[in-house]
Amino acid sequence: MGNIIIHPAWQIAERFVTSEAVFLNRRSFLRQMSFAGAAGLAAMPLAGCAKAEPPDADSRTSSAAGAVVPAQAYPASRNQEFNPNWTFTNEKIAGRYNNFYEFTLSKDVYRYVNKFATTPWPIQIGGLVEKPMTVDAMELVGMFGLEERIYRLRCVEAWAMIVPWTGFQFSKLVGKVSPKPEAKFIRFETFNRPDQAPGMAQVPDYPWPYFEGLRLDEAMNPLTLMVTGIYGKPLPKQHGAPIRMVVPWKYGYKSIKSVVKIEFIAKQPKTFWETLQPDEYPFESNVNPNVPHPRWSQATERMIDTGDRFKTELYNGYGKYVARLYAKG
Ligand code: MTE
Repeated sequence: MGNIIIHPAWQIAERFVTSEAVFLNRRSFLRQMSFAGAAGLAAMPLAGCAKAEPPDADSRTSSAAGAVVPAQAYPASRNQEFNPNWTFTNEKIAGRYNNFYEFTLSKDVYRYVNKFATTPWPIQIGGLVEKPMTVDAMELVGMFGLEERIYRLRCVEAWAMIVPWTGFQFSKLVGKVSPKPEAKFIRFETFNRPDQAPGMAQVPDYPWPYFEGLRLDEAMNPLTLMVTGIYGKPLPKQHGAPIRMVVPWKYGYKSIKSVVKIEFIAKQPKTFWETLQPDEYPFESNVNPNVPHPRWSQATERMIDTGDRFKTELYNGYGKYVARLYAKG
């Protein structure tokens, strides 16, 4: 296992390459801490899986509505405010160590995504808004443009990664639909296609489709991104193609993948994990080293590629942007 490093060493560019074998050992260690373990469910068998599909970086992504995002749109220009001198997590490892329970409870999601169709991708945006709309994911890109930001992502399972995401600030979309004054929260929902996502049938008792929520002020925070790409290319399916949320100061499960519905509502919505285990996965779920998960510590975290272990930071290190959202009184 990696060394204990006491300062937030993801700020240090120097990294070590990890061999696949060492990585796989770490994976099995990490699986012990997974949601699947948490829910008392066995990990899905790895055999008999579909062939992996590489990210489709060279093709053009088109929608039924005719919106097209040329591959040349990637990489998008980097937003200099989110361009720290951190070394990225190894791309291949990030794409083979995923949580996407619609496909499998194990981390090798990339093996199970072949049948998943990501175009066209209509998204319903409605609820308490003046201008509801149904638009294709790629039309949203046309409306708001793309930028690249380097963020850390911290999973509740105590692993972390550093990746360049491509997307647009979610507040732009909020502005476009003009929320009514009663709108205080946003509820997000993922697709519901058991025929394309084999994990759904394997855990039929889960409250599919996956759903999440944010306060409106959290959704409006400049950090909140709607994402269509990673590592300078369109999102591979296992990372949440064609469009997902990224909320970097909260545990990873708040960053819902493959979103099809965005609803503005007055009351705090339930979330998928909160419905399953309210004591373990509350609505707010900000990264906080001082609040342990009921069954494990959140004080440190492990980088998925090097295995190095770092101290976890409050709000995942993004307090400058978000602490005021949670100031009491
Ligand atoms: N979104 C959906 N629809 N289904 C999921 O199972 N898993 C979440 C989140 N979004 C999940 C999801 C969890 S637990 C994490 S840590 C992140 O996705 C992982 O994102 P990544 O696989 O791109 O690293």
